[in-house]
Amino acid sequence: MSLERFQKLEDYPEDPIFSVYRKFEEDERKEKVNLGIGVITNEEGELYAFKCFENLLLNKNNSYLPISGDNDLKKHFAKVFLPFVPAGQVVSVQTVGGTYANYLSAKLLKKLGFGKIYFPKPTWSNHLSLFKEGGLAVEQLEYYDDDVKKISENFLLEVKNLPENSILALDVCGHNPTGVDLNSAELEEVIKIGKEKKLVYFLDAAYVGLVGESIEDDMTMVKKIYESGNPILLSFSFSKNMSLYGHRLGILSVMNFGGAGERIKSNLDYLVRSSISSASRFASDFVCQVLSDEKILNLWQEELLRIRNYLLKMRKEFSQKLQAQGIDWGREVQNQNGLFSLLPELKTEELQKNFGIYIPPNGRVNVSGLKESNLDVVVKAIVESSL
Ligand code: LMR
Repeated sequence: MSLERFQKLEDYPEDPIFSVYRKFEEDERKEKVNLGIGVITNEEGELYAFKCFENLLLNKNNSYLPISGDNDLKKHFAKVFLPFVPAGQVVSVQTVGGTYANYLSAKLLKKLGFGKIYFPKPTWSNHLSLFKEGGLAVEQLEYYDDDVKKISENFLLEVKNLPENSILALDVCGHNPTGVDLNSAELEEVIKIGKEKKLVYFLDAAYVGLVGESIEDDMTMVKKIYESGNPILLSFSFSKNMSLYGHRLGILSVMNFGGAGERIKSNLDYLVRSSISSASRFASDFVCQVLSDEKILNLWQEELLRIRNYLLKMRKEFSQKLQAQGIDWGREVQNQNGLFSLLPELKTEELQKNFGIYIPPNGRVNVSGLKESNLDVVVKAIVESSL
C-alpha cells in the first residue's frame, strides 16, 4: 500500500536552466559555449573573480548566527542599498540566495492573508514554482511583446485592471529573461495605479550594480515605490554582483509595513526557524567585510561598472553581427539591459547538438557568455542553424 504512494509520486521535469547547465558541464567539446545559466564569466569562460576581493580573508568563526542572520550585514546592507529608508523602517532577514527570499516572501504573504500574486509574463521560470509551493496562486500579466521585443502595450492596462490589494511582482532591474525594463514613465504609471489600487509589491533584485551606472540607478524602482508608501517585499541576491553563486546569500527586506515591524520580524523568525533553523555564515561574513569597508566597497562598484560596460559592448557587437547577417530579430538586443535577452527564434537544440552552444529552450541568451573569442563562431552557428 505505502509503496504505491512512492510509485505514484508526481514526476517533475528537470529544471530547464539547470538541465542545460548539466549538459554543458558534461559536454567534452573544447569549443563549447555556455549562454545558459545566469553567471558572469571571464574571457576564458570561467566564473568571474572580483579582483578587489583577492585579499579578503574568510572569517574563522563557526558559531551560529541569529535566526534571521547577521545584524551587521543587515545594517550595512541598509546603508549601501536602502539609504532612502529611515532607520527602523525596514525589517530584513538574511536568506539562502535570493531564491529563499522569494520563498519566504510567499510564506509571509500567505500569513498576511493573500492568496494570489501577479508576475510579468514571461518571468524567471522558478518564480512560478516558488510562489506556488509557498502557497499562493500565480497569474501572469502580459509584460513583453516578443514581436517588437519591448514592453507590451497591454502591460499598463493589465496592471490597471488588477483587483484592489493585489500583489504585483516586478524585477527591479535587468528583467530575467527579457532584459527589458520599464522606462521611467511606465514606472511612474505603475506607481500611480499602485496607489489607487493599494497594491503590495514583491520586488526581485538579482542584478543590482550590473544594469545601470550605479547601485543608486539600479535601486530606483525600490526607492520610488518606497516613497509611494505601498508595502514592499524586496528579495535581494548577492549571487551575480559578488560572484557568490554556490554560497547562496540573499536578503529579504520588508518596508512600509504600517507599524507592524515587530510582528513581521517575529513571523520571519518563525518561518526561518521552522525551515532552515538559522542563517548560514560563510558568505555573510564575506559580504559583511565588503559592505563595511569604504575602500573595498568603492573598488567593488568600479569593478561592477566595468563588467556592466563590457556586457553592453558585447550586446552591441552581437546585435550588429546578427543584423549584418540579415538576422533582424537580433536588433533589439543592443537596447536591452543586464544579463539576458530572450530570442525564441533560436534553434536551441541544434545549436547544442551541432555547435556545443548551450541556451535554455525558451531562447534566453546570457550575454556574459559571449566573448570576443567566440562571438563570430556563435553568430555563424546561429545563421547556419536557422537555414
Ligand atoms: C538564472 O536565472 O539562470 C539564475 O538565476 C540561476 C537560477 O537559479 O536559475
